Amino acid sequence: MQVTMTVNGDQVSHDVEARLLLVHYLRDVLGLTGTHWGCDTSNCGTCVVWMDGEPVKSCTVLAAMADGRAVRTVEGLEQDGVLDPVQEGFTECHGLQCGFCTPGMLMTARALLDRNPDPDEGEIREAISGQICRCTGYSTIVRSIRWAAEKERLGAADEPAAAPAGGA
Ligand code: FES
Ligand code: FES
Repeated sequence: MQVTMTVNGDQVSHDVEARLLLVHYLRDVLGLTGTHWGCDTSNCGTCVVWMDGEPVKSCTVLAAMADGRAVRTVEGLEQDGVLDPVQEGFTECHGLQCGFCTPGMLMTARALLDRNPDPDEGEIREAISGQICRCTGYSTIVRSIRWAAEKERLGAADEPAAAPAGGA
């Protein structure tokens, strides 16, 4: 079947099998391998992308269900060579080790800060509760998202002086 959607602002259209999952469409057809596929049980959350502005696990969505929708992947976070503050935060606060969970964490973090610019630790932990990190223990992820919130509060001209408290 024919599917047409925008992915990171670009229109794409392909003839795909009706059973093709969105995560496989993104990775295998479009070559956008930033979105990871980490489980067969809809638990890990590394596959999170946005569909019409809402985070979804792309392993639970058929490519056909994205027909006519706007999809945003982790590749769409950076704009004109400028990292999104959440990407900066994960860099500044060591929010990753192996990095496998990071694409989903970043997309969930961006969505959280768009609806809640000043989340506390509990709100951050709730937002990422559908995602599994096997490496960090989550503390640095929480700090990274708090750093990004502070960066956006200060504006582009300033940097948060240090990773704000927020993790254990
Ligand atoms: Fe694990 Fe989607 S690949 S939740
Ligand atoms: Fe390795 Fe999260 S950094 S799974």
